[in-house]
Amino acid sequence: MGDQDLQESQNQNQSPRKKVTVNTILQMKGVEKISVLTAYDYSTATICDRAGIDILLVGDSAGMVMLGYPSTVPVTLEEMLVFCRAVSRGAEAAMVVGDMPFGSYQQSTSKAIDSAVQFVKAGCDAVKLEGGAEAADRVRAIVDAGIPVMGHIGFRPQTSLLWEGSRLQGKTSDSFSRLLADARALEKSGVFSLVMEMVTAEAADKISKSISIPTIGIGSGPGCDGQVLVVHDALGIYDKIKPRFAKRYADLAEQMFKAISTYRSEVKSGKFPDESNTFHADFSSRTKIASKKRAE
Ligand code: KIV
Repeated sequence: MGDQDLQESQNQNQSPRKKVTVNTILQMKGVEKISVLTAYDYSTATICDRAGIDILLVGDSAGMVMLGYPSTVPVTLEEMLVFCRAVSRGAEAAMVVGDMPFGSYQQSTSKAIDSAVQFVKAGCDAVKLEGGAEAADRVRAIVDAGIPVMGHIGFRPQTSLLWEGSRLQGKTSDSFSRLLADARALEKSGVFSLVMEMVTAEAADKISKSISIPTIGIGSGPGCDGQVLVVHDALGIYDKIKPRFAKRYADLAEQMFKAISTYRSEVKSGKFPDESNTFHADFSSRTKIASKKRAE
């Protein structure tokens, strides 16, 4: 971000922002790019909200970056709801979208509605679920229950490796046609926006131009209506995977490491705490008060 952009975003942040709603997001298509970041905790949510991020996605990537699971598959609904409660307390204006974990919506439409309701009770404004045309009935049922849904096509971390065996989608015209059919089916079933993960820039651009709802890309090129990144990738906190599509805006892991190492050595050497971190007692005045009380 250049100095001018930063200044603009700071100016923008001086007056309180209006709550971002489904209508806000729909109206941004073709007018303004939509900024989405994942968030999993209160403090990060407050910073993202202050920075003017439009949507905070409590992604099931929390399973990996917050809980250390090897993939997004093991994270449970209960675990996701803890993150959602924290983020929704920190997000004043940003829309909060809760990511439905594997096993919380696949079994039946009633299970899908029950799980989506849990997300709303945890403070979310909408839910996201992975799936193409085959998920359209689940989407419709949740939308009919009054809960806005964000779709997710292309690479779907919960199940794609079981089927396609490759992450990048939309390389051939067949693959593009399937993605377009999925996007149209989801649009018809009522999603208000659509994440496209690891879709070729050409396919993502065409799909974005073919549907009326905003597309949110991750690894899908600049033609999408918005972009999403995992906040740990953007800030350089999670080192296990470094996707090429994720731009690093900071190297917080290194900064945290240096700060924590300095703290450790200051504790060992006795440099911390110093006078400014220390409280003192005045035992003589306490004694005076105590003896005055006894005299009364
Ligand atoms: O869980 C997540 O972080 C996501 C984004 C990558 C879109 O689904």
